[in-house]
Amino acid sequence: MDRILVTGGTGYIGSHTVVELQQAGYKVVIIDNLSNSSRDVVDGIERITGVRPDFVEGDCTDMETLIKLFADYKDIKGIINFAASKAVGESVSKPILYYRNNLVTLLNLLELMDSNGVKGMVFSSSCTVYGEPDENPVTEKAPIKKATSPYGNTKQISEEIISDVINAGASFKSVILRYFNPVGAHPSAEIGELPNGVPQNLIPYLTQTAIGIRNELSVFGDDYDTPDGSCIRDYINVVDLAKAHVIAVERMLQDKSENKIEIFNLGTGQGVSVLELINVFEEATGVKVPHRIVGRRAGDIEKVWADPLYANEVLGWKATSTLADTMRSAWAWQKRLRERGIM
Ligand code: WQD
Repeated sequence: MDRILVTGGTGYIGSHTVVELQQAGYKVVIIDNLSNSSRDVVDGIERITGVRPDFVEGDCTDMETLIKLFADYKDIKGIINFAASKAVGESVSKPILYYRNNLVTLLNLLELMDSNGVKGMVFSSSCTVYGEPDENPVTEKAPIKKATSPYGNTKQISEEIISDVINAGASFKSVILRYFNPVGAHPSAEIGELPNGVPQNLIPYLTQTAIGIRNELSVFGDDYDTPDGSCIRDYINVVDLAKAHVIAVERMLQDKSENKIEIFNLGTGQGVSVLELINVFEEATGVKVPHRIVGRRAGDIEKVWADPLYANEVLGWKATSTLADTMRSAWAWQKRLRERGIM
């Protein structure tokens, strides 16, 4: 089977995707600089699949590192590029770090693909490119709005770079996947979301509150134009999301599409509010989450959820996990971290 390079492969979505790639029979090599993840994740992947993925600790912004990687792994046929800084708030205070890390990583990889026989890149993008959508659910035809953060802007610029390089005559293809809100953990509880420091995202903060690490979850506003006043998102199970990447790789490597670039929204199609999600978690786990309504968080989108029909029909992919099961997986992971004394 072909070998796939997974950049950022010890990260949250990357590690779950490596599991699915291995279980689909692909050989994998991970490169990750461990700036926001741990080498232990490689052990977790091996415990799930029984196969230890090759792992290279390195920074994709360093061209020499990548040149050596491709010299060492001459059988790389596809790339899934997760390697990027991804905290919206941090990107506002550290724009140079975000533009350099996210864009130089991409440029280095694109520059090396054709000369190393790589047939395609699956790119990790985000629904952030749509900003506050004019209407929900959001299709791939929805207008791209001016980014509200350097993080979101790096995703928009990256999509344009990929398009320009392919339109300039590159031989490789690309599938761009725009994620909505990835949540949950692998059902084995061997891998999951492991944010450094105080979590920015809702679910890790919620599960850390549920287990007692945090005193109380702040709900950022209940005065939005939504049924219960709290923001609405499309929370997609991370394993469902990972499976879409395997389908995208197969689609590229088997030349299933005449288009050199394809873009897909990956979501469930269901909008869920913050308060609804708290209720789902509490009912699914039987664990109460102390929470309080506070003021809005700057930059928050009011409501955004996907129309996944295009991915359902063209990729033949659909999110199948229930939100209750997804919340149970997030809780099982948080308890595992406690058992291991990690958190
Ligand atoms: C979800 C909802 C908050 C924390 C961002 C990026 C996106 C992707 C996922 C990287 C919002 C509310 C949150 C808390 C809360 N990142 N919330 N209390 O902002 O939708 O998306 O992260 O790929 O690109 O934009 O995710 O989990 O931060 O927030 O009330 O302590 O939960 O207001 O409505 P977001 P989030």
